[in-house]
Amino acid sequence: MTVLKVGLAGLGTVGLGTWNVCKNNAEEIVRKAGKKVKIIAVAEAEKNKFTCLEKNEAIYFSDAMKLTDVSEIDVIVELIGGDTFARAFVIEALKKGKHVVTANKALLAKYGNEIFKTAEENNVTVGFEAAVAGGIPILKVLREGLTANRIDWIAGIINGTTNYILSEMEARGITFEKALKEAQDFGFAEADPTLDIEGYDSAHKLALLASMAFGTKLNLDKVLVDGITNLDLREVIYAKKLGYRVKSLGIARRRNSNLELRVHSTLIPENCLMANVNGAMNAVQVKGNAVGNTLYYGQGAGAEPTASAVVADLVDIARGDRKKMITSIPALSFQSDQVKDLNVLEHLSIESGFYLRIRVLDQAGVLADITRCLSNENISVDAFFQKNHLKDDIYTDVVLLTHKCMGKDIFDAIESIKSIKSVIEDPIVLRVESLE
Ligand code: HSE
Repeated sequence: MTVLKVGLAGLGTVGLGTWNVCKNNAEEIVRKAGKKVKIIAVAEAEKNKFTCLEKNEAIYFSDAMKLTDVSEIDVIVELIGGDTFARAFVIEALKKGKHVVTANKALLAKYGNEIFKTAEENNVTVGFEAAVAGGIPILKVLREGLTANRIDWIAGIINGTTNYILSEMEARGITFEKALKEAQDFGFAEADPTLDIEGYDSAHKLALLASMAFGTKLNLDKVLVDGITNLDLREVIYAKKLGYRVKSLGIARRRNSNLELRVHSTLIPENCLMANVNGAMNAVQVKGNAVGNTLYYGQGAGAEPTASAVVADLVDIARGDRKKMITSIPALSFQSDQVKDLNVLEHLSIESGFYLRIRVLDQAGVLADITRCLSNENISVDAFFQKNHLKDDIYTDVVLLTHKCMGKDIFDAIESIKSIKSVIEDPIVLRVESLE
């Protein structure tokens, strides 16, 4: 029986999950891959993590770079994280003719153009299914299952931590801070949770999804990113009153020859499927021009769900022959000479509905003043209510939903609204999407 020999770098949560899935599902994997998938070497800075592994016949290194010198290794699995050492390590492995499998979305979103080029030049492949939405095989969907389609848009809940926080704020009326603490205790927040709550983890994943969906270069710097750190519980409560839920969505949409790439809190109708993705679960909706709307749901984090994606990439490599792998299934879905650098729209040029919360002195004429500012920009109101946040308050929250309009128009209207005397705070503005 031939063996695919693997060098595993990093025995954190996903590294350990990968070790366990390879071991526990070894028989099933051989039946599918036609080869054994065997971890023959492990690199991990903390040696005790390695010595704890049961039935361990692998060679140990403290320095991951040493794995690249082991000539029998066919594939290196990079689960170290970060983007400084990991970048040098992955490039070195590819240059030495080893395939690489990684869950490192930050690394690929930042340096993917260089990494995929190096892989192609060295006739090896980079598997990264685990980098986006954990156990959901969304990259394979884009690369293979939906390859006949021209993709119109993708919208995803691609960060479990933020989804947990928003779901719990809505379900239990708890604050952002309390929900974040719970997410950290459950262990699905990143080591540095700012990547999750400020939207960067989703932005990394969105850059990869967009590249695969539209055949564009990885364009992380052009993703509009707005996290949930400043989201007030009131937005969640008021959205519910209007028949919406607030979700942090990553949205990539084709607009003629341009793209929208954005991560932000978004109101979506409460009866759509995506609005009912709760807790730390992930979901990605893809609209293709032939297939229509499709939805993929599952665990976006955790040891074995993420390892499921890592090991699937290993099985793909075990099944393929090296030459065929490169020529028939490009890692980023499009043939590399067909990848374009599509223009990414800035927020003023992006059309959507909007949610506005405007805190005002509760007195005659203020509503007329606000709607005048909107109508001056030709913005039509779709729904409206007014709510005293605190009892006997002289102030009130005016909450409005608009029909679709351009970002520029709403931001011009907001500038005028801010100059109304009875408006006492900068208005809160969120986008609304129907996901149809
Ligand atoms: N921290 C991420 C999340 C998991 O909360 O979804 C890994 O991408």
